Amino acid sequence: MHTVKAEHTLTHLYGKDFLSLKDVSPSDINALLTEASLLKQHPIQPIFQGKTLAMIFEKSSTRTRVSFEAGMAQLGGTGLFLSSSDLQLGRGETVADTAKVLSGFVDAIMIRTFAHEKVEELAEHADIPVINGLTDRYHPCQALADLLTIQEIKGKLKGVKVAYIGDGNNVAHSLMIGCAKMGCDVAVASPKGYEVEEEAVNAAKEAAAVSGTKITLTDNPQEAVRDADVIYSDVFTSMGQEEETQQRLSVFAPYQVNASLVSLAKPDYTFLHCLPAHREEEVTSDIIDGPNSAVFQQAENRLHAQKALLKALLYKQD
Ligand code: CP
Ligand code: NVA
Repeated sequence: MHTVKAEHTLTHLYGKDFLSLKDVSPSDINALLTEASLLKQHPIQPIFQGKTLAMIFEKSSTRTRVSFEAGMAQLGGTGLFLSSSDLQLGRGETVADTAKVLSGFVDAIMIRTFAHEKVEELAEHADIPVINGLTDRYHPCQALADLLTIQEIKGKLKGVKVAYIGDGNNVAHSLMIGCAKMGCDVAVASPKGYEVEEEAVNAAKEAAAVSGTKITLTDNPQEAVRDADVIYSDVFTSMGQEEETQQRLSVFAPYQVNASLVSLAKPDYTFLHCLPAHREEEVTSDIIDGPNSAVFQQAENRLHAQKALLKALLYKQD
């Protein structure tokens, strides 16, 4: 058993919420990535004895659920899976009452839901840290794992060019902000009408002004991937948008990541995808299952990144 201390202490995040990357400083993100790498080498650290994380899911999940639950177990605590259809929340108990009640039982709450405002409301009324496990607007835990993966593969973040191709969604927003904070150049190519939201663009541009990186927004996927080090893709239809599936399939067809598109990137480009993927829609099988793909390393990194986050939020380090 090893209890390894991170090189940088994580005191800025102790007791706080983690709702988006907007309010997390580059040095805290860097500290989380360092801690995640250490936890990857020494996964079992019994620092959370008696601590419980409530995990509320209003949408499906494989990675987020299992990585948080396994992560809590590896740190000596318990992850408690709560489906909203079983909670009184699903029968009309208010978010505020749920927050106050859970604050008396557990040490932190992770929630996956639709409206981002619901997570903000939960955080406002909870006395304990609240973690965003995906909303319609942000997926910050995913972005932490994405940054960890890019750093592992490229050996750095500063100056790495990341091209996101597809829907201007939750994953795109968090990736863009995280990359801008850590010094990656970001190019986002989305069809007209499906662009990234203004709030996320502003946050990314502010971060880019500090880190000295470039944010490119375009509707041209070829322009975005040119000389890219990383090509990132996500589903065309996110959870909650199912009725738009047919329309999106045709709008997004030119945004498929395939052999022709990746030929414009650097030869040693890395393909990333938050998963789950729809092969032959947003990405062809030869690319996602090919030698440049790191999607399973990326998925595994959810575990390590979130354990670092949990440790930062819940474990007082001196
Ligand atoms: N990437 C991601 O969040 O996966 P799940 O929906 O399986 O949690
Ligand atoms: N954009 C996708 C990500 C799934 C992890 C969604 O919200 O469904």
